[in-house]
Amino acid sequence: MAEMLVFETAEAGAQVVADHIAQAVRASSAFTLGVATGSSPLPVYAALARHAAGGADFSRVSAFALDEYVGLPAGHPQSYAEVVAREVTEPLGLDPALVRVPDGGAEGIETAGDRYEEALIEHGGVDLQLLGIGATGHLGFNEPGSSFASPTRVKTLTERTRQDNARFFDSVDDVPMHCVTQGLGTILRARHLVLLAFGEGKADAVAAAAEGPVTASMPGSAIQLHPRVTVVLDEAAASRLAHRDYYAWAQRHKPAWQGI
Ligand code: F6R
Repeated sequence: MAEMLVFETAEAGAQVVADHIAQAVRASSAFTLGVATGSSPLPVYAALARHAAGGADFSRVSAFALDEYVGLPAGHPQSYAEVVAREVTEPLGLDPALVRVPDGGAEGIETAGDRYEEALIEHGGVDLQLLGIGATGHLGFNEPGSSFASPTRVKTLTERTRQDNARFFDSVDDVPMHCVTQGLGTILRARHLVLLAFGEGKADAVAAAAEGPVTASMPGSAIQLHPRVTVVLDEAAASRLAHRDYYAWAQRHKPAWQGI
């Protein structure tokens, strides 16, 4: 089962995740990080940027993004290629040549999923995949109904996800209808999944994903099928977990030698 870690603040949880990543990169600089966009991973990137400012060398780290919108013009500030460049590649000092984002350009979109899947496999996969969870329960942009075996492919966003992401655009009408997203099958191949969720708005999705039935209707429940998952929450996001007391107990009594 997933390891459930609850912190007083998002920043405290993010620091633990960033310290773990920095340590893993020190041990093997050719580390591959799976990057999510959206708000949830931002405190992890901020903490990693502090590691970089303090001398950590991330220049041999490879990164693969989870997803990309379809049809935004190249250089659009909300395209995930730009978001990853701005929030991850530059502040952490990654080598841009080692950072991949699915190709959401309209030309060749039919093969964008297959091309990304091949690049991931050829590279040897992802060591640690950062994930957020949507209000619909999506991981990446795998909306309800997505197969647990799905590869990277084009998906249609739900209206709820478009509304939620409208905050990054001038209006909901500007949010693309389609995306290229790693599939749940792709995500489940990463060697370690770290799911980040903060705030009350995530409490239902977190409880359903971690404790509810394993079903394609709740894509986040795919985490229950993975052998190594760390779920990092603040108190608000953890507030609807049935086994909250046990998780707090296990966190307090965690063997000292165990990382996340
Ligand atoms: C982003 C992604 C999405 C987000 C999710 C949560 O690359 O794949 O699954 O992680 O929509 O978004 P935030 O963190 O903005 O609440």
